[in-house]
Amino acid sequence: AAGHATAVAHPNIALIKYWGKRDDHLILPASDSLSMTLDVFSTTSHRPAGTRGRGGPGDPQRHPGGRRAVPAGGRLVRERARRAERAVVDTRNTVPTGAGLASSASGFAALAVAATAAYGLRLDATELSRLARRGSGSASRSIFGGFALWHAGRGTGADADLSSYAEPLPVGDLDAALVIAIVDAGPKAVSSRVGMRRTVETSPLYGPWVESSRADLTEMRAALLRGDLEAVGEIAERNALGMHATMLAARPAVRYMAPATLTVLDSILRLRQDGVAAYATMDAGPNVKVLCAGADADRVARTLRSGASRTYIARLGPGACLRAED
Ligand code: DP6
Repeated sequence: AAGHATAVAHPNIALIKYWGKRDDHLILPASDSLSMTLDVFSTTSHRPAGTRGRGGPGDPQRHPGGRRAVPAGGRLVRERARRAERAVVDTRNTVPTGAGLASSASGFAALAVAATAAYGLRLDATELSRLARRGSGSASRSIFGGFALWHAGRGTGADADLSSYAEPLPVGDLDAALVIAIVDAGPKAVSSRVGMRRTVETSPLYGPWVESSRADLTEMRAALLRGDLEAVGEIAERNALGMHATMLAARPAVRYMAPATLTVLDSILRLRQDGVAAYATMDAGPNVKVLCAGADADRVARTLRSGASRTYIARLGPGACLRAED
């Protein structure tokens, strides 16, 4: 029977966004993306010994703050291990319920690590990243701590599947923090999976965004190597706003920004006028994540509290790993 394994992973926030797939089944993105893994809201994936079960496609994202059985890595892991038996995995997220933050990245990263260990597979980090990618694209990046780059992959089919994985990114001396400003804890209007597809299929701005995102990535890598937080922030902010522009141009529009989102963006502009290097990035929801220096994080969080219902301060976190059995 499969063994017992517990893995922990953390969410990541993209500074160069993943938005749109070129292969829906293999989860191959249209462009490279780049993220920072956080040190808050870990997800633990735990495979109890001796249990068996069946399950539909696991989706830790739909069960924040709770516990739920999902198949142990599902068909992909069983095929790799040449094993037929199914197993039960409990996934526990510490993302506050209703925080409006996706936990699919940490969830599928933890699941990939726990499930492969439970089945006795020894995958290297690249293979784990490819496996996590099949659960949710952004999960490929949560295998790694710090900053990570997810390659879109070359070619199509099996070639692309093999060449689309994340890897850790070398960076210079950088004291980065991310302030998470929660403006609305409600469920999102359109899932990122559906929003992406609609954007790719109908937005006339999509192609140009992919092009500009490539250029942003090149500049971002150089800025990270220099440890230039202001440049990193500027590039991240324009990349995110461009992504939201492509969504707004979809038919019908995909809009995740709420009035309160824009209020927070105004506060960030004022902070910058006051000389604080703070830059916004937003994902498939109304909340704002603010990149700033660690030394400024408290001030940024205090300032944003007027427009946000809650704030959290995150710093760079570790990659997904197995946890010693308890
Ligand atoms: C806006 O990884 O959740 O957060 O691959 O369909 O599961 P699927 O999508 P997902 O999309 C994340 C989109 C994003 C940007 C990013 O994290 O790069």
